[in-house]
Amino acid sequence: MNINTAEFVMSNSDVKKCPKQDKPEFAFIGRSNVGKSSLINMLTNHKSLAKTSAKPGKTQLVNHFMINKEWYLVDLPGYGFAKVAKSTRQRFSKLIFNYIESRENLVTLFVLIDVRHEPQAKDTEFMEWLGINEIPFSIIFTKADKLTKRNLADNLAAYEKEMLEIWEEMPPFFVSSSNSGMGKEEILDYIHNTMNTLQE
Ligand code: GTP
Ligand code: MG
Repeated sequence: MNINTAEFVMSNSDVKKCPKQDKPEFAFIGRSNVGKSSLINMLTNHKSLAKTSAKPGKTQLVNHFMINKEWYLVDLPGYGFAKVAKSTRQRFSKLIFNYIESRENLVTLFVLIDVRHEPQAKDTEFMEWLGINEIPFSIIFTKADKLTKRNLADNLAAYEKEMLEIWEEMPPFFVSSSNSGMGKEEILDYIHNTMNTLQE
């Protein structure tokens, strides 16, 4: 799929004020600093459509972007970063959970995982919660450029092994780098195909 237009629509701290649920939407979620905003910029060919920062906790609101005037991409605040104040963390998680539970037009939640690290309970527990609540999700491993091919393959295999302790099969997953553009086509094709199945 080609992205022809990508426009910022609005930022909200109250999910009730998010855009009308009349278009399909795909949201990006994951720990602070995992690379959600960078990935949105990479996918949409923009340098700074979504604001990024080396400091965790940059995205604090629910940000809607309209793509090709047809669907929404949503940038969410990160969860679970120890360096962010506890009160802020609690506010973020409330906002995130309200968002997930109230958006009926949410087609897929992309859970971003930094591929450099071992599986973290915060992420695996979050995905279990998604499973229990029947929220469709896919995984996007980020920052693949920071590992050698060999380490990348090892880390992916280790993650898959851990997931299969709980899940019958791996959810759909993608390997990405916002620096190199790795994963872009696969992720956009997946979004495109998923939207097509909705229309059938
Ligand atoms: P919050 O909004 O704080 O939750 O963070 P975020 O998940 O939106 O992360 P963001 O996109 O702001 O990126 C965090 C840091 O990681 C920035 O310094 C980015 O430049 C860096 N980064 C993001 N993606 C990649 C990647 O694919 N490769 C490399 N090398 N660095 C990345
Ligand atoms: Mg962000």
